[in-house]
Amino acid sequence: MKQITLGKTKEKIPLIGQGTWGISRLFKDKEYYEQWKTSLRTGIELGMTHIDTAEFYGWGKAEEVVGELIKEYDRDELFITSKLFPIHFRKKTMKKAAEVSLKRLDIKYLDLYLIHWPNPFISIEKDMKVLEELVKEGKTRYIGVSNFSVDQFKKAQDYLKSEELITNQLKASVEDQKVIHNSLSYYQQNDIIMTAYSPLGHKGLTDIDEALKNKLQSVAENHNATIQQIALAWLITHKNVITIPKAFHLNHVKSNAKAASINLSKREIELLHTKQSDLLLTNFNT
Ligand SMILES: NC(=O)c1ccc[n+]([C@@H]2O[C@H](COP(=O)([O-])OP(=O)(O)OC[C@H]3O[C@@H](n4cnc5c(N)ncnc54)[C@H](OP(=O)(O)O)[C@@H]3O)[C@@H](O)[C@H]2O)c1
Repeated sequence: MKQITLGKTKEKIPLIGQGTWGISRLFKDKEYYEQWKTSLRTGIELGMTHIDTAEFYGWGKAEEVVGELIKEYDRDELFITSKLFPIHFRKKTMKKAAEVSLKRLDIKYLDLYLIHWPNPFISIEKDMKVLEELVKEGKTRYIGVSNFSVDQFKKAQDYLKSEELITNQLKASVEDQKVIHNSLSYYQQNDIIMTAYSPLGHKGLTDIDEALKNKLQSVAENHNATIQQIALAWLITHKNVITIPKAFHLNHVKSNAKAASINLSKREIELLHTKQSDLLLTNFNT
C-alpha cells in the first residue's frame, strides 16, 4: 500500500484507509460483527492501516468493534482516527466524549481526533481549545476537523496556539467533485491533507449517471479494473489527498487495497474531471 507523509509531520499514512460508518448497533447478530472484523482485519493485512471511526457511528458501536479488532495488533502499526460529534456544548463534556471514545476503542491515545462538523452554537475557539488540551494530555497525537469550509479551517487554525490542524475530512468523489475544485488547492498549497470521505458516493457508485459510468468504464478497461477502483485511484492521484472507503464485503476490501497501485495517465485523470483543473497531481504517466 502506498503511503504519503501526513502534512508537515514526519508520519506516514496509507493513501487508502478504511471507513466504519456502516457498523450498526441495532438488530445485528454476532456473525455480522465478526464479518466486519474479518473485513477490517483483511484491510489491515493489505496495508489499509488507517481506520476512520467516530463516536456517532452506530452510537459508539463502530468504536467498540474497532476496539475489539485492534487488540490483535501492535498499537504502533495502526493509525486510528475518531471524531467528536457536535452535541457536546461544554468543554468538560467535550473532553469526556473523547475519553469515552478512547474507552470504547480500548486504547490510550488516538492518532487523530477531529471535530466531526462545525456547530454554529459551539465556537470554533472552544473546539480548538479542547483539541489542543487533548494533545497536551496525550489523548491524541494529531488533530483536525471535518466538514469545515476553507474559511472555517483558517479560523480554527488561527485559534490554535501550539498545534496545527493536519487534515480536513471532506466529502469528495469522482461523482461529487465540489471540494476538489473549490478547496483542494488551498490544502495542497499549505501542505495539509484532505481526507476524502464517501469516495464511492456512499452507495458504491451504483446510481451514477450514464455519462460518468461510461467514462469510468472506459478507463477501467485500460487497467483491467472496476469502476470503483478507478474512482479511488483518481482521488488519490491528487496531491495531498487520502481516502477512507467503507467496505463490509471482503471482495470490496481487497479491491480497494489494489486501487492504490493503479497509475492513471494524465489524459485519464482529465477525462474524469468535471471541469478543467490545474490541481497538483502525483503518480501519473503521461
Ligand atoms: N466526516 C464525515 O462527516 C463522514 C461522513 C460520511 C462518511 N465518513 C467516513 O467515510 C467512510 C466512507 O464513506 P461512506 O461510508 O459514506 O461510503 P463509500 O465508502 O463512499 O461507499 C460505501 C459503499 O461502497 C461499497 N463498496 C466499497 N468498496 C467497493 C468496491 N471496491 N466495489 C464496489 N462497491 C464497493 C460498500 O459496499 P459494502 O459495504 O457492502 O462492501 C458500500 O455500499 C465512512 O465509512 C466514514 O468512515 C465521514
